[in-house]
Amino acid sequence: MNNSPLNKSVVDEKIAQLRIPDVGKASIREIVALVNLVEEETGIKYIRMEMGVPGLPPSQIGVNAEIEALKKGVAAIYPMMDGIKPLKEEASKFIKNFLDIDLAPQGCIATVGSMQGTFAAFMAAGNTNKKKDTTLFIDPGFPVQKQQMMVLGQKYKTFDVFNFRGKKLHAKLEEILSQGNINSIVYSNPNNPAWICFNNDELKIIGELANKYDVIVMEDLAYFGMDFRKDLSKPGKPPYQPSVAKYTDNYILFISSSKIFSYAGQRCGIMAISDKLYRRDYPDLQERFKGTDFGSTITLRILYSVSSGTSHSAQWALAAMLKEANEGNFNFLEEVEEYGKKATVMKSLFLKNGFDIVYKKDIDVPIADGFYFTVSYPGMTGNQLVENLLYYGISAIALDNTGSEEEGIRACVSFVKREQFGEMEDRLRLFNENFS
Ligand SMILES: Cc1ncc(COP(=O)(O)O)c(C=O)c1O
Repeated sequence: MNNSPLNKSVVDEKIAQLRIPDVGKASIREIVALVNLVEEETGIKYIRMEMGVPGLPPSQIGVNAEIEALKKGVAAIYPMMDGIKPLKEEASKFIKNFLDIDLAPQGCIATVGSMQGTFAAFMAAGNTNKKKDTTLFIDPGFPVQKQQMMVLGQKYKTFDVFNFRGKKLHAKLEEILSQGNINSIVYSNPNNPAWICFNNDELKIIGELANKYDVIVMEDLAYFGMDFRKDLSKPGKPPYQPSVAKYTDNYILFISSSKIFSYAGQRCGIMAISDKLYRRDYPDLQERFKGTDFGSTITLRILYSVSSGTSHSAQWALAAMLKEANEGNFNFLEEVEEYGKKATVMKSLFLKNGFDIVYKKDIDVPIADGFYFTVSYPGMTGNQLVENLLYYGISAIALDNTGSEEEGIRACVSFVKREQFGEMEDRLRLFNENFS
């Protein structure tokens, strides 16, 4: 580790202080805490790629609507449990305009970020049928959702989709679903961390098998429309964001405002339950929560218990942003395209310095450039790579944190500033010189 930009002993001292047993396996928040301490002590700024924080200013449309709502006094009033009417209506229109799916406003439920949406949905789905006690994650995936399963005390199973793209997905899913214990399937599209995107054929496989085995599909659209290979930004016009909702009625969509509108701080998202699933009666669920149909159990039993609704003013913000997007006045995808552009440059810096992309293709086409990408370095495990890069002022998380079986790291582009690209290149060059 000649000439590494950081003093190894400072990094080691902070690792010991935080009692991180194996830094290569550290969680996102542990890496955040560690890098904060090292930066504070050394004054050296890291190339921070560990956490998916939006690196752009929040949408002004949202901010203005929220200020307006606060001035009108909404802070004093409890919001409706399932969301304010204008938000539900705009969300339903948004789903029509950008996914080409019909879903009634009733099923569009405000949640405290998608995090709360998935928490409530996991809890409900896990209790729909006593014989089906397991959730299936199509990995790699968002690590905190596994933590939610742990907190809920519910069972899950996962597999890495790396070797099961296209038609191969069918046999793999069938093998698992035919065991009869799966209540739901979860994935993100575009995918955090790999930025792979399922195509319509793959979503059809998932949807049709969900019908066959009566399983709820949870489609996490935290990066809605951000497959920048296509222009998905025109309301009411194809191409649309691909969705499993075209192939099954047994679905819940999660639309987060955090990334598409850079509104993460206000913790407001939409959980959209299909009309059919919303109204469905599950006797075991009713026994467990003493509720009525699936949708009402989520709102009146689970969400009511957890937070009694979602921030009133933030709901007005989200309603306003969706409205402007629906009416074609706010091209939210144009605003976040910067992530894709930065990823193009950052990937090239890694590739120039001996690294390789791990999840390279959507079957036969190169993956899009977007919020995340994955890289490996020859002869190093993902955990070793995380650890070694920390001494070179670069922070990321290992892919094994995400349920991936590949060796490598997840790089998040959002927090890295363009002004840091020169420094990043120098550090990667030095790293490669010392390790190759
Ligand atoms: C795949 C995925 N789902 C959900 C979330 C969380 O969304 P929210 O901020 O709306 O809770 C994230 C945030 O990084 C994510 O990457």
